[in-house]
Amino acid sequence: MTPGETLRRQEQALQNCRKCKLCEGRTNVVFGSGNPTAEFVVIGEGPGADEDAQGLPFVGRAGQLLTKMLASVNLSRETDAYITNAVLCRPPGNRNPEADELAACAPFLADKLSVIQPKVILSLGSVATQALLRTKEAIGKLRGRVHPFGDAVLIPTFHPAFLLRNPGPEYKRMAWEDLKLARREYDKRKTR
Ligand code: URA
Repeated sequence: MTPGETLRRQEQALQNCRKCKLCEGRTNVVFGSGNPTAEFVVIGEGPGADEDAQGLPFVGRAGQLLTKMLASVNLSRETDAYITNAVLCRPPGNRNPEADELAACAPFLADKLSVIQPKVILSLGSVATQALLRTKEAIGKLRGRVHPFGDAVLIPTFHPAFLLRNPGPEYKRMAWEDLKLARREYDKRKTR
């Protein structure tokens, strides 16, 4: 089976998932999108209203900014990356996913990563980054560094929704540094 086929099976198996309370309000399980053999994976927090409606990650305003952020370091979200979230169902009112919800979804993310086998993971914002690195440290402290993550490295940066809410030049500059760092790591580590 190809990685794409394996991911499709995983996605089908989750259609009726009831492992956490987020199932109650969701329209769609937002499994992920992009290239199943990409060595660059982006992990956000969880679907918003647009994503829940369409069943695809990062298709709203934050998604448009993410697309531009990736393009700024010459990465196409369709062909160079695979994009998913720490939780696959929309938290009501766009609240942060809770610890039990992140824990319920963690094995699905692990399964996906074991199929894709990324070399670089870009984690967006504190919720996803703290869950992945199992830390409570603030995103401002975690970003700007390369964190070992299994066979990959994880590079945290600000969530694009945060950047939209805080349009000042200082966060933009830091996000740009993070993207360049992710690109350099990707160039060093990619095999495909
Ligand atoms: N924010 C996220 O964290 N993920 C999405 O898919 C959309 C917005």
